[in-house]
Amino acid sequence: MSRQTRAIIHADAIEDNFRLMKKYAGNGQNMAVVKADAYGHGAVSVARILRNEAAAFAVAIIEEALLLREAGVRAPIVVLEGPHQALECELAARENCTLVVHQREQLEWVRQCREGRKPKVWLKVDSGMHRLGFDCERVPALVSEYSDIIDADSVLVTHLACADDTANPFTVAQLHAFNKVREATGLGVSIASSPGTVGWPQSRGDWNRIGIAMYGAEPLSEASGLALKPAMSLQASIIALRKVKRGETVGYSQTWQAERDSLIATVGIGYADGYPRHMPSGTPVIVKGQRAALAGRVSMDMITIDVTDIADVAIGDFVELWGKQLLVDEIARCAGTISYELITRVSQRVPRIVRHI
Ligand SMILES: Cc1ncc(COP(=O)(O)O)c(C=O)c1O
Repeated sequence: MSRQTRAIIHADAIEDNFRLMKKYAGNGQNMAVVKADAYGHGAVSVARILRNEAAAFAVAIIEEALLLREAGVRAPIVVLEGPHQALECELAARENCTLVVHQREQLEWVRQCREGRKPKVWLKVDSGMHRLGFDCERVPALVSEYSDIIDADSVLVTHLACADDTANPFTVAQLHAFNKVREATGLGVSIASSPGTVGWPQSRGDWNRIGIAMYGAEPLSEASGLALKPAMSLQASIIALRKVKRGETVGYSQTWQAERDSLIATVGIGYADGYPRHMPSGTPVIVKGQRAALAGRVSMDMITIDVTDIADVAIGDFVELWGKQLLVDEIARCAGTISYELITRVSQRVPRIVRHI
């Protein structure tokens, strides 16, 4: 029997979540963020699922855009990091990709493209995140200086550092700084990703960039109460069962010791599949609709779980690591990380199976 480890991708959830986020978009449009292989869900699959829903797709780098084009995706694509080298600019134009440009060198590369081969350019503005973008004060002058490549269709893009925290005044400061640039240039804007779209109505712009909410994970640090549906169920099957006596230990470095006679199931998923090695004993998993707990270190290809309290467990039974029955946000908290990291790290060894119902 082949290994049963898999990530079920729930197409209906992705579609429903994206539609739900459209209701929050106001007068603007939403682009679906499918960078990092659509946060581990499969960029081509997600683009196909959203072909009638998403006005555009966003990727981080041009290579990700090319994969979509090769798969026949025709919708506009926005490349969030812009070009990393000059030759990407004409390529972007040929492939109908918009480059979000964040430094002068990139503007020069675009300017040097041959006539008729210049890509569409949006401008990244640093309103306080201090990661990428032009300083707010410099933007109006840049827009005039590069009026040959920045036109009325260009959009000012900024990113909010703390939008997941709806009480954090830093977002207000970022919006204030950015709005001055917006007024001075009169250009369209793209500010909000999922947390902004949900938590900060004033950040909704002409284009919202929707990532995590579309994948069904919580965009805010406090529960938003949104009816989002998990888009990925990570599953693996039990490949061995054994009884261990009270006092015996399980796994590498003997980190888990049985407090009673126990039944331990070995499950075919490990850190090489993207289930983090530092996941602590006690982290929940679902077996036969019930919670069981991780027992001992995560190995490269396997984990061990305590199924003592679950009746009739058998080899071959499926275990859910996160998904519809166990929210990825809860598992991310156990791992001391965020949902984004867990879902993007599911490795290529795990087949993605797209289900439409
Ligand atoms: C520039 C930018 N825009 C949009 C997004 C999407 O954010 P979210 O997944 O929170 O919706 C990201 C995510 O990393 C990003 O870096």
